[in-house]
Amino acid sequence: MKNILSLLIALMVMPSFTLLAQPRLPVFTGKVKSMARKEASLLVKTENSTAEIYSYSPTILRIRITRNEPAEDASYAVIQKPASFLRDLQEFRDSAILVTDSLKVIIHRNPLRLVFRNMKGDVLSEEQPGFPVSWLGTEVTCYRKLFADEKFLGLGEKTGNLDKRGNSYVNWNSDIPAYKTNHDPLYQSIPFFIGVHGKVVYGIFLDNTTLTKFNFGASTDEQFSSFSAAEGEMNYYFFGSSTVAGIIRDYTWLTGRMQMPPYWSLGYQQCRWSYFPESQVMNIAQQFRDRKIPCDVIYLDIDYMDAYKIFTWNKERFPDPKGMTGKLNDMGFHLVTIVDPGIKVEKGYFAYDEGVANGYFAKYPNGTNYIGSVWPGRCHFPDFTQEAVRKWWGASFNRLVDPGVEGFWNDMNEPSAWGQSIPDIVQFGTEGQKASMTRVHNIYGLEMSRATFEGTKALMNGKRPFVLTRAGYAGIQRYSAVWTGDNEATDEHMLLSARMVTGLGLSGVSFTGPDVGGFMGNPSEELYTRWMSMGVYTPFFRNHSAWDTKSKEPWSFGAGVEAKVKAMIEQRYRLLPYIYSAFRESAVNGMPVARSLAIQYTFDEKVYWWKYQNEYLFGENLLVAPVSCTQGAEKIYLPEGGWYRLSTDEFYKGGAEVIVEAPLNDLPVFARASGIIPMQSVIQHTSQKPSSVLDLHVYNGDRKSAYTYYEDDGVTYQFENGQFCQRMITFDPSARRIIISAPEGSFGSKFTSVALILHGFRDTRDITVNGISYTLKMKGRDQWFAEFPLTGEPVEIRY
Ligand code: GLC
Repeated sequence: MKNILSLLIALMVMPSFTLLAQPRLPVFTGKVKSMARKEASLLVKTENSTAEIYSYSPTILRIRITRNEPAEDASYAVIQKPASFLRDLQEFRDSAILVTDSLKVIIHRNPLRLVFRNMKGDVLSEEQPGFPVSWLGTEVTCYRKLFADEKFLGLGEKTGNLDKRGNSYVNWNSDIPAYKTNHDPLYQSIPFFIGVHGKVVYGIFLDNTTLTKFNFGASTDEQFSSFSAAEGEMNYYFFGSSTVAGIIRDYTWLTGRMQMPPYWSLGYQQCRWSYFPESQVMNIAQQFRDRKIPCDVIYLDIDYMDAYKIFTWNKERFPDPKGMTGKLNDMGFHLVTIVDPGIKVEKGYFAYDEGVANGYFAKYPNGTNYIGSVWPGRCHFPDFTQEAVRKWWGASFNRLVDPGVEGFWNDMNEPSAWGQSIPDIVQFGTEGQKASMTRVHNIYGLEMSRATFEGTKALMNGKRPFVLTRAGYAGIQRYSAVWTGDNEATDEHMLLSARMVTGLGLSGVSFTGPDVGGFMGNPSEELYTRWMSMGVYTPFFRNHSAWDTKSKEPWSFGAGVEAKVKAMIEQRYRLLPYIYSAFRESAVNGMPVARSLAIQYTFDEKVYWWKYQNEYLFGENLLVAPVSCTQGAEKIYLPEGGWYRLSTDEFYKGGAEVIVEAPLNDLPVFARASGIIPMQSVIQHTSQKPSSVLDLHVYNGDRKSAYTYYEDDGVTYQFENGQFCQRMITFDPSARRIIISAPEGSFGSKFTSVALILHGFRDTRDITVNGISYTLKMKGRDQWFAEFPLTGEPVEIRY
């Protein structure tokens, strides 16, 4: 009898138990039960969740919603803490309003649902009425109202259009050789986007490192958008600044900004899988110098190592690494070598022995080290989430730094293992802080880059290291430049690279570029030439190609192509003062170097058009219109204002679609009217001194403008102690005046005079410089110039 009774009870209990274990329907946050103000947050308890709204600044809020008690608060991306910017909480029967100096959050009580408004009352973004936040198993999703004209920008290194509406994306760092131009996901996970609708903008950063999904109205019949995380908390930051530039500034304040890279890394970089032995490396270097093609960097890909063992050298191919880098340095080259995370399983190999002895590798739950195969064969993978491992990894770079390597190329760090399916149960972290692959996968590349950057910075005696990575997560800009992985030698890839680079820029990462010329496959002469001309206007300018491709050095396509490409690379070196100033701006306020037109012309529909979406600004005053290599002329769009073709000085009124010639030796690039562009003489590498004359190009326009010129030693961190030279240059057409401010900072500029080059100043033939008269000399069709000394004093030019 007793047994039958327990069986009956078990049967009664079972269905609901089964339901609990395997949820078939979503669970919602439910009704608000209580609200409590804290110093920098508002705690909200609901039927099924705990929510907390924190303020970080007047324009940055954070929303954290959990079903269970909130876990320990940690982030790999965010470097700021909440602060008290919540002003006021007004409570009503059905809602409450939480106010900062710039934002209002309407908190609906049944169910909990948040609506974000600016101070004027415009809705910036709101959670979806009816089903705002819910859980399906461990997956948590936030659904949001989709505005009829809403556009979506950002998400980092994604394929697809500039406006990502109508598409959905996944973040799960993936090694996809020869990826298709619509493939997703790729190498980076940056779960941050910017929404644009009506006359408002907002930003959202979902700080969850598990697999995240973003749906910008795909398959929802355009009724709502959503974002979700496979497990963990709904943890998103809301950015309410009123401009896209303001949102990027806030996002990069929250997740950190690029540190100034070494100046040489802005030069032209030559790579190939792989240059070896030493004689080939030296031959490539010599060819650049003999042919007078400027170049700063040569790379060693995986074949410089002994059996692909990280931190080793193949002694036959490179018997004297230090001697070789010494010779390269003497010729003005810097050496970058690749490092992959996989450590070859081989007793007697120091990295393997040390890693095993100290428990530094990722493990299965039973404590055995995970093994996956990569280039060296069977490998263990360092657990970069542990500080001790990062220190060890960082210190191991002495084997590269001592022989003179200055750049560190972090590859295969998605992490990649043949088969691309590292089991989710692989574990990281130490006792009490363990996490599975599901949480660590997307930050593995970030933490490897961090270990590399911190380690090499410590080893380089005050010199700036250059770090490059393939994989990353939000915040990667703090440690590394990013290249866009294994692309192909096609026009589509070349044009896509403009969107990937500007997409990364919209998402906080400024120092970026593709493999110029295409990694896989052989570009035609035309494609190679065109892509090199785009490389000039790409923050990271590196030519790279796979082992089974033809040579892609600038001379590989014959004398005709060589002459064109040489002129292009020379243009890059002329522009270095301008490019370096753009890098500085990025390090200071997060504004990317390659800027989508959506940043400045956010509400101009045409910048999102399929035909024009690849155009971008390179720095503040140059507009680049990428054109496929098969087009000799192209219809492009010039946004409002005025624009001068850089190569001919031809003037175009903006806000217009124009057809322009686009021969292979002349990519359509335009200087902004009222824009200021500093340039220098051509040098063969950045350790060579340019002439002491700074070419200051000013393009006439009717708008007042200001430009910040920046210079420092380009090598050390002394600029942090004030050793820089910064000048504000203002152009005031109504007062017919250009002013160069006195320098700020204690760095002595390499330029002791200025050649002021005026473009489009038709009737101007004489100027005064601090009261002294100069007659302008003709330079080009519509270019007139005068040269005068540049001292510690301000300069006032009247025309
Ligand atoms: C990966 C990298 C590529 C590199 C190759 C060999 O495919 O993305 O850039 O050349 O590995 O190391």
